[in-house]
This record gives sequence, structure tokens and C-alpha cells, in this order.
Amino acid sequence: MTGEGIGFGKAILFNEHFVVYGVPAIVSAIGKYTIAKVEPINKSGWNLNDNRKATPKYKEDKIEQQKDSINRILKKMNIDLSKKGIEITLDGNLYCASGIGASAASCVAIARALSDHYDLNLSDEEINEIAYEGERGYHGTPSGIDNTASTFGGLIWFEKGENNVIEKIVPPNPIEIVMGDTGKVADTTAAVAGVRARKEKNPEKYKEIFDRADNIAYLAKDAIQDEDFKELGKLMNENHKLLQQIEVSSRELDFMVKLARDQGALGAKLTGGGLGGNIIALTPSRDLQDDVANAIEKEGFQTLKTVIGASRQG
Ligand code: MEV
Repeated sequence: MTGEGIGFGKAILFNEHFVVYGVPAIVSAIGKYTIAKVEPINKSGWNLNDNRKATPKYKEDKIEQQKDSINRILKKMNIDLSKKGIEITLDGNLYCASGIGASAASCVAIARALSDHYDLNLSDEEINEIAYEGERGYHGTPSGIDNTASTFGGLIWFEKGENNVIEKIVPPNPIEIVMGDTGKVADTTAAVAGVRARKEKNPEKYKEIFDRADNIAYLAKDAIQDEDFKELGKLMNENHKLLQQIEVSSRELDFMVKLARDQGALGAKLTGGGLGGNIIALTPSRDLQDDVANAIEKEGFQTLKTVIGASRQG
């Protein structure tokens, strides 16, 4: 029997990196996803057909991490392929790039496809745990925010802890955003390690930055629920500044963030691990969304127009 499963892409609205240390963060699934299929084959072990569209070099750069990730997922699920193997096929409409949750989406999709193939009937909570283990193959000690968004969908308040806090945020209406891809593949493990090293070196400076990030999350949650987009945009801009201060932005990211703001986006910031990858711009109307996306595309970058906070996304 063919097993099938999906995992959503994601955009972090607030507090990537800070989330690793227990600071609350806000993340949204986006309306693009990876689909995994699992089929039996007449040999042992697993094969992979990765048909996902991707930014140049993305798949090549991640190949070893991807192998490690799949082996971790299989181990966590106690799946023995020594007698009868499987073929995993990845597809879907999520364009793989850094910062958009491509690794988490594939881990969730694979875990669900395996659950389907072996008739395991796993719950979303169990899928999320397995996908977390898969994410460890890509970036060592992830906070779990990406796989959580990818599994459950929607807009989520996430706090890492002994038991993670995972709460849905439901805005009155979906909110238009634009994501822009610098086309640079970034290494999240290196970005997270860099923050750790600098934080240890400058504890006082980093404490101040982290305290403000914590504060911003609460203000942002209120702004989302009140549909106060001006305030929300301001907070995104401030969050980007904090991310610059912990040195995870880049020239390309700063350029695109400025471009989006100049075009009327109410706020813009890097999203995800940084050092390349994607930005997210707040564009709460179709016209503004088009304007900002067009301006970014004119500079030769890929964009994604989507909404956050839709009830079933997605
Ligand atoms: C990556 O999408 C988000 C980071 O905060 C890492 C993590 O939370 O595991 C940079």
C-alpha cells in the first residue's frame, strides 16, 4: 500500500533564535506544503526520490543532513527495513529554500506517510515528536518551533520548555504577507551556534536584547488579535533590529527588508535562521501584497504571496 502524508511550510513572525532559549515566539504555517509518498520495494533499506522544487544548491547542500534525518525518523518509529525496504518520494508546492521550513515540512510529511503506510494511526502529537527527531538531523538541537507549525498548521504561540507551550492564535481575519527569498542557502546550525558563542561572550548585552524580544512577543500577540497592523509592523521592524544585533542578518536580507518597507510594507524582517534565506513582510491587503512582491521580484528575487492565520492551513 502507498502511504501518503503532508507537512506545511512555515514563517516565523517573531523571535527566531530567541526561541531556542525559551523566549516566546510566534510562527505561522503557510499555504504551501511538502507531500511524501512511501511505497514498498523489493530490496532492503530506503531510496529517496526528491522531486521538490528548490533554490539552487539547496538540496545538494542538505543531502547528508537529509539522510541523517530520515534515518532518525525511521529509528524513532522502530521501522526495520532490513527485509523489506521502501521508496520515499517527496513532492508538493513548497519551494525549498532556507527560512521557509522546508526541512520540517519534509520530516512531518515523511512521518505521516510512514504512519499511513504501516497503518500506525499516529496522532498529530506523535507525528510532531517524530518530526522533531528528524529535524535534529538538520540542525542539532532545534527548538521544535518549525515542526510544530508544520504539523499543526495555523498561527501559533510557541514557548520551548520542559513541556513546550503550543497555543493557537486566531486573528479575526487572515493577514496577507509576502516572503522573499535571497536565494542564499544558509546553515541554521552555524547560525544558532554563532548566537550561542556571542551570547556567552557578552551576557549583559544579550540579556537586554533577549528581554526586549520577550516583551515584543506579548505585544505582537495583542496587535494580531486587535488587527493593529501598524503596531504589528513596527514590532516586526524592531524584531529585525534585534536579529541584526545578534548578528544573524545579512546584506541581502537587510536590502530586501528595506525594499519591502520602502514599497509600503507595514513591517519587514528576516524569518528563520537568517544569514540568507527568506524575509517576511506584512502587507495586509491584496494590493499592497502585489506591490511589495512585484518590487522584490523586479530585483530578481523569488517571492511567495500567502496569508497567515487562515483557519485550516495552512
Ligand atoms: C529556524 O527556523 C528557527 C531557529 O530559531 C532555530 C530553532 O528554533 O530551532 C533559528
